Amino acid sequence: MRFIVKGNISWVGKIDWELRKFHGDEYSTHKGSTYNSYLIEEEKVVLIDTVWAPFADEFVENLKKEIDLSRIDYIIANHAEIDHSGALPRLMEEIPNTPIYCTANGIKSLKGHYHKDWDFHPVKTGDTLEIGNGKQLIFVEAPMLHWPDSMFCYLTDDNVLFSNDAFGQHYASEKMFNDLVDPCELWTECMKYYANILTPFSPLVKRKIEEFVSLNVPLDMICTSHGVIWRKDPLQIVNKYMEWCQAYSENQITIIYDTMWDGTRRMAEEIAKGIVDENKDVTVKLFKLSSSDKNDVITEIFRSKGIVVGSPTINKGILTSVAGTLEEIRGLGFRNKKAAVFGTYGWSGESPAMLKRMLEEAGFKVMDDGLKALWNPTDAALEECFQYGKKIAMEFT
Ligand code: FEO
Repeated sequence: MRFIVKGNISWVGKIDWELRKFHGDEYSTHKGSTYNSYLIEEEKVVLIDTVWAPFADEFVENLKKEIDLSRIDYIIANHAEIDHSGALPRLMEEIPNTPIYCTANGIKSLKGHYHKDWDFHPVKTGDTLEIGNGKQLIFVEAPMLHWPDSMFCYLTDDNVLFSNDAFGQHYASEKMFNDLVDPCELWTECMKYYANILTPFSPLVKRKIEEFVSLNVPLDMICTSHGVIWRKDPLQIVNKYMEWCQAYSENQITIIYDTMWDGTRRMAEEIAKGIVDENKDVTVKLFKLSSSDKNDVITEIFRSKGIVVGSPTINKGILTSVAGTLEEIRGLGFRNKKAAVFGTYGWSGESPAMLKRMLEEAGFKVMDDGLKALWNPTDAALEECFQYGKKIAMEFT
């Protein structure tokens, strides 16, 4: 399927409506995704990226309907991850001598995945490729957005940035352009994508955006590798990334917990009441981790100025749903967020101390040693939770 993006640029990718998990089972994709591949037909014909491996045959057969594959002069591999390079082996069976332009790290990754010695041409920031009709592609390395090999390329005259993973969303839509889709859906997926995938690389995001803006080139569109193309006011997503990459938070406190016999849930709810009683302006959200979508919870943590984490003590430790989420949080490296901890116990009561240690290791500022309640919380224990919530509201300013 071909879709005209602008001038001689066409979208030739794949809309994956069925996708519900990405990166193995690590990332939930409630609204599917797309693998965007672009064909530029000037005096030279250029293919930018391909699609995920399961769609390789479909991709190549569709591409054949659009163009004689032998007319493709250059392949640009902006990123070697399988969702963009997965159809390369199938494509290269058809056009094995076509040069592939990518970063030096891209060559390593592509060779590592496919063990092929294709005609690779390494490019660096500032390198250009003439494609005829007075146009050129300018390459910009973008390491860790999302892998060490990632790069952008910019098409002069059309003023289009092909940004690969950056500025993308896991969002399937036939509309294809940002101004044609439901903005609530779009921004929800944009934030979830940033929070869950790009948070660890925020300092690099900031530097890369500043570097690109300093080039002072006109920008008509951003063609990402996932989701819709930013056609209307493309700088809006760039500006949003500048907010998100600088220790972003809103006036929100998120309480995450798990519970065995409801005691820790009751503590969570009383803490929430105390927070709201002290600060009517703050948004408080509660998530039971064993029955919540992990990636949606991570997005809520991303939005929060602080989190409150609860688990009963079990086997001198914490529940696995809480431990798993804390491991995810540790890897993401959130900055400038506060935390508090709580949980019920029957005899030994290690959970708050363990939660505190794990959160501190994850870079959170934990306000104290936390709150414990013995067995099923009494009215007095619940009053303590309420007061603890008030203290949290005051400390999480
Ligand atoms: Fe969409 Fe890092 O791959």
